[in-house]
Amino acid sequence: MKHIFQKGTDQSKPTFVLLHGTGGTEHDLLPIAEKIDPEVNILSVRGNVLENGMPRFFKRLAEGVFDEEDLVFRTKELYEFLDKAAEKYGFNRHNILAIGYSNGANIAASLLFHYQDAIKGAILHHPMVPRRGIELPVLLDKNIFIAAGTNDPICSSQESEELKFILEEAKAEVHLHWENKGHQLTMSEVAAAKDWYLATFNGA
Ligand code: MLT
Repeated sequence: MKHIFQKGTDQSKPTFVLLHGTGGTEHDLLPIAEKIDPEVNILSVRGNVLENGMPRFFKRLAEGVFDEEDLVFRTKELYEFLDKAAEKYGFNRHNILAIGYSNGANIAASLLFHYQDAIKGAILHHPMVPRRGIELPVLLDKNIFIAAGTNDPICSSQESEELKFILEEAKAEVHLHWENKGHQLTMSEVAAAKDWYLATFNGA
């Protein structure tokens, strides 16, 4: 998969895997990652699917209606890409924090829905429930931060609560943060994600 890798200065910290929103690229979330922790390795990935020229991480049939077969295929593709990237760049495969926005948050959530050991935690900006009706792996020791919008037109507040509930049922630790700026990735939710990250991953 097309990507950028930036080696960090502290290898004891998690490697951030960045996953952009629809129409974005691997460059979009770099400033946010650097704000959250400038010392970590960063692997920023571009989605392999194109929708009218816009990169995405999996196909959809309509706005908010996912192509489940492609979602499962692309989730496996990303999982295997993480294995290969960890080997190539020499980072700890078991210490990955995914940071995703919108479509990128949805594939990060899908990694959690399908694999017990894909990622250690995630910061999900405006995610949806990626799939319903499947049994999740046990997500004990997985830490997840969700930034959601009370007035997000793409993901209702009920769906954000539902995602939290499903992940908690699977034994993950979930923190749900609310904003009221629609589907926007706001600077205040990035600041909240940073506080959560420092408290959860750095013992602050
Ligand atoms: C998706 O397709 O993943 C969601 O609708 C969010 C987005 O617009 O990318």
